[in-house]
Amino acid sequence: MTTSPLVPVTLPPTVSLEPGGGGLPRLTIVNRHARAEVYLHGAHVTAWRPEGQAPVLWMSAETQWDAAKPIRGGVPICFPWFGPHPTDKSAPSHGFARLADWTLIEARDDEAGVTHLAFELTQPGCAAIYRVAVGSTLTLALEVRNPGRDAFTFEEALHTYFAVHDVRGITIQGLAGTDYLDKVGGTTPRNQGAEPIRFTAETDRVYLNTQATCTIEDPGLSRRIVVRKTGSNATVVWNPWIAKAKAMPDYGDDEWPEMVCVETGNVDAHAVRLPPGATHTMTASIAVS
Ligand code: BG6
Repeated sequence: MTTSPLVPVTLPPTVSLEPGGGGLPRLTIVNRHARAEVYLHGAHVTAWRPEGQAPVLWMSAETQWDAAKPIRGGVPICFPWFGPHPTDKSAPSHGFARLADWTLIEARDDEAGVTHLAFELTQPGCAAIYRVAVGSTLTLALEVRNPGRDAFTFEEALHTYFAVHDVRGITIQGLAGTDYLDKVGGTTPRNQGAEPIRFTAETDRVYLNTQATCTIEDPGLSRRIVVRKTGSNATVVWNPWIAKAKAMPDYGDDEWPEMVCVETGNVDAHAVRLPPGATHTMTASIAVS
């Protein structure tokens, strides 16, 4: 059954399509391992809750459900640039992928009961496929192909917002000894040193040259969130804290303690240069223990 022009595939019984926030088309996935939601707007995963667990992804109550705006929370796809556009001030923050309508090109359950979705975005000069596997692990894979005749250079990030009990009580392990750019504290690269990451102020860091697994230790929720990755050489860690939270129109003033972003990416010096015809794949897989 063809359910809409953006969903030209037959949906398995585990997947349903209905209007979500602001009437935007939303896929709801319910299988024996987990429940998840994905918007076609941005191919944006807004919820994932493994069976028996609390929600893992954080969503702002103030997000603006608007096809012209990015969704605040879940997993925005930043592509083909990260942060402000390098030359065009009028271009949207974090690229156009999170603002675009993606087409669902695959929806199926495997023998283990994991639901696999694939979304496609075709723009002049590049083609991207985003694969989402919903199980007791959430696996996200962004494949970028260069269909053109010239090399194509891009940045990318899976800007994952995680729900935490209180960001002031968590630690992030996995980045000890790693150099980072501190977007809050000047331009000189810093080093994490031996300690895990703790949050005592606005934090906006690009950890460089790292393929490491990160673990969010959250004693308040008695859980660990483990983020494994491939094809990614940078990890961005972000919490806006008090003043920046107040300055963002689509983010509640008091929401900052509830979330942390640990973003799998290739940004800044790790931008990817794709020769004509080549494909690059970056994956993030998220599990809870
Ligand atoms: C983070 C960036 O990844 O995203 C921050 O490092 C930025 O600098 C944040 O503020 C949110 O960006 P946006 O465009 O979604 O408000």
